[in-house]
Amino acid sequence: MNSQQKYLQDLKQWLHETSDSPLEEMSDFFTKRLDGYEEHMSVWEKSYRLFAQALPSGCQEILDLGCGTGLELDHIWQKDPDIKVTGVDLCQSMLDKLLEKHSDKHLTTVCQDYFQYDFGYGVWDAVVSFESLHHFLPEGKRELYRKIYHGLKKGGVFLLGDYIACCDEEEELLRSVYLKKRKQSPIPDNHFVHFDIPLTLEHESRLLQDAGFIIKKVRNNPDNATIIIASS
Ligand SMILES: C[S@@+](CC[C@H](N)C(=O)[O-])C[C@H]1O[C@@H](n2cnc3c(N)ncnc32)[C@H](O)[C@@H]1O
Repeated sequence: MNSQQKYLQDLKQWLHETSDSPLEEMSDFFTKRLDGYEEHMSVWEKSYRLFAQALPSGCQEILDLGCGTGLELDHIWQKDPDIKVTGVDLCQSMLDKLLEKHSDKHLTTVCQDYFQYDFGYGVWDAVVSFESLHHFLPEGKRELYRKIYHGLKKGGVFLLGDYIACCDEEEELLRSVYLKKRKQSPIPDNHFVHFDIPLTLEHESRLLQDAGFIIKKVRNNPDNATIIIASS
C-alpha cells in the first residue's frame, strides 16, 4: 500500500468513527476551542513561516481572510512590522486574541463573513488566507475569487495557504459526507459549519484561473500546507 492509499484508508476510518458526530456552527467551533487553538495549530509552524516568506516584499496593505488569532500574521509582521493589515473573521473571540497579541501593529479587524465583506476595487497589495477556505464548496468560492481579483491593486497577489485534497477520491468523499451531514443537521443552510471539504490542486487552480488569476508558484509539500501564489 503506498502512502496515498494509506492516507485514504485512515481518512475513511476516521469518517466512519465520527459519522455520528454532529456538525458544529463555524464560529461556535472556534470559540469553544480558543484556549488550545494555537497549540493545536503549531504543527503548521513551518508552513506559517513559508507562507510569510512567500509574501512579496514591498506589500504595504494586506487583507487577511479568516485571520483567526493571526498565526500567519505573527510571521508576516516579523518580516515587516509596518505592514497594514485588515483581518476579517467570523469569530470575535479569535479576533480579540489577535488584537491582544498585536496591539502595537497597524491592524484593523472586521468581524464579518468574508463572502459578504466589501473588498473594494484596486485596494490591496495582497490578499492572504491560511487554512480557512477549505471549508467551502467551489460554487461559493468562485464568486469570492472574483471579488479578491478585483480588490487587488494591479499586479497584486492572492496568497493562499490551505489544505488541498490529494486526489479526486478525497475531494469527492469529503464533499459527499459533508452534504449528507448537512442534510441531517438542524443548523440552517445559511449558517456556516466546520467541516473540511478541500479541493484538489487542479480544481483549486482552475477556480483561481477562471477568476482571472495567473498561478505564479505552487508549493505542494505533503507535510506542509499547500501554498499558491496567484497574481492579478
Ligand atoms: C483554521 S482557522 C485559521 C485561522 C488563521 N488563518 C490561522 O491559520 O491560524 C479558520 C478561520 O477562518 C474563519 N472563517 C471561516 N469561515 C469564515 C467566513 N466565511 N468569513 C470569515 N471568517 C471565516 C474561522 O472563524 C477561523 O478563525
